[in-house]
Amino acid sequence: MTSWAHGYVADSPYTFAYQAAQAPGNLALICAMMGVDWQPTARMNVADIGCGRGYTVNTLAAANPGWTVLGLDYNPAHIAEAAALAEKARIDNATFVEADLAEMTDAEIDQIPELDVVSLHGVWTWVSDPVRAGIVRLLARRLKPGGLCYVGYNALPGFGGDMALQRLFRHLTALQPLGSSPEKARAVIPTIRALHASKPANLLPTGMLKRIAEDETELDASYLAHEFLTAHWRPVFFEDLCADLAPAKLDYVGSAGFHENVPDLIFSPEQRAIYETLPMGPAREFMKDLVLQRPFRRDVFVRGLRRTDPAVALDRLVLGACKTLPEKSPSIGVPVGSAELGPDLWEPIAAALREAPQSLGRLRSLTPDRNPNAAELLTVLAGAGFVLPVLRDVGPSEATQRFNRAVAETYWREGRRGGQYAMASPVTAAGLACTWMELAVACQIGDSGPEWPDAETIATRILPDISGEALEAAKGMVEELLSERPAIWRRFGII
Ligand SMILES: C[S@@+](CC[C@H](N)C(=O)[O-])C[C@H]1O[C@@H](n2cnc3c(N)ncnc32)[C@H](O)[C@@H]1O
Repeated sequence: MTSWAHGYVADSPYTFAYQAAQAPGNLALICAMMGVDWQPTARMNVADIGCGRGYTVNTLAAANPGWTVLGLDYNPAHIAEAAALAEKARIDNATFVEADLAEMTDAEIDQIPELDVVSLHGVWTWVSDPVRAGIVRLLARRLKPGGLCYVGYNALPGFGGDMALQRLFRHLTALQPLGSSPEKARAVIPTIRALHASKPANLLPTGMLKRIAEDETELDASYLAHEFLTAHWRPVFFEDLCADLAPAKLDYVGSAGFHENVPDLIFSPEQRAIYETLPMGPAREFMKDLVLQRPFRRDVFVRGLRRTDPAVALDRLVLGACKTLPEKSPSIGVPVGSAELGPDLWEPIAAALREAPQSLGRLRSLTPDRNPNAAELLTVLAGAGFVLPVLRDVGPSEATQRFNRAVAETYWREGRRGGQYAMASPVTAAGLACTWMELAVACQIGDSGPEWPDAETIATRILPDISGEALEAAKGMVEELLSERPAIWRRFGII
């Protein structure tokens, strides 16, 4: 039934996940950091190529009525689900197209409007050469001069250690006569565990293998199937990706992972000395790939790079706290140890952000004697996930509220098992990452006017099938959310 799939997994849907790195507002932070002149505008055409179940597309469309957001995928089940969610939430600026990138003619590609932003998350290193060629043709023909392109992909050497694991998955699942791809992936895990325990020399104990073979909680079988069972699984070196994308005339901006752009946070003095001898471009990126733990690269490119002063661009960014800010600075793990802010920097910055969104320039001016580095400040605040860009000073919109409600209602069964959810926010022009439970609680509050129902009523409404101890536990979770989150939800125009 899936002979059209050309080796990619198509007998079961991919996970339903919001991918924050794709949000144009987040990409603009990276551009500012790297001194590249690019900002999202009120009217843009955005496309997600290989959009899966379309959650990111629908979130961006709901949060940005002035944008048209296109999701393209060849799996009709993905497209049907994405379009049904858009219809349920009455999001009319999201368009979903079922098309095989390997087979699209130039004339079909040219029916897509000229694009300001194109994202490809988890596609390039899972598909065949003809599909890759289709992607390059689409970028070359439809990405506007000055347009931005985000590519998230399995990278070498970081993912190289898992090449044997992928082959092992393929060989073992080929022995499974029956079942869907996720069922086959799940069925072979005991064998992989046994083999891992026997320590074969070339089945390297990578983070991924340990996660699969040692962790109590199983990885989502749909994820495993889509990750490992494709016939075309090929992690690539950054420079080989760049060579393949050359016809689209893309220039490299930087990594969507903030600290990966800051050599001071990556290299020891010895490594830094070698890095400095290398020319800018692929050689330096390769050196970073040797040092960083990054099996998955998230690269930002622009078609026609224009430089700007990063100091000015960074100071203009407006950031809002999207989590409760702790007493002590958040810390992010980096190759040279950890990156965090000392109390003299963190305390005034956190106090200001607790009050309202702030420009990075204002945050820096709070401690003039320290003159903090804007890129490092952004790296700690945004890299640790404590702030999001604030693009608009607005309240909740009907579109985002309808959409958030539609997601909470539609995915109540799947969402309770975990997953990457987000609340569409007109303020950050994208999603605010959350659990399904947070989303469901925020929708209950948003719907009920100034007088919120109590925690038990909310718990009973969102989880009508539980009682006893489970209901008590849910009530406790709702109480905790109500004590912490509403100020943040208000700040981001969710309620
Ligand atoms: C690993 S999934 C990533 C989905 C989504 N970008 C995400 O991150 O949630 C890869 C996606 O590429 C799509 N795909 C694979 N081959 C394709 C092709 N030839 N044309 C269009 N889409 C394709 C699959 O259907 C799948 O949705």
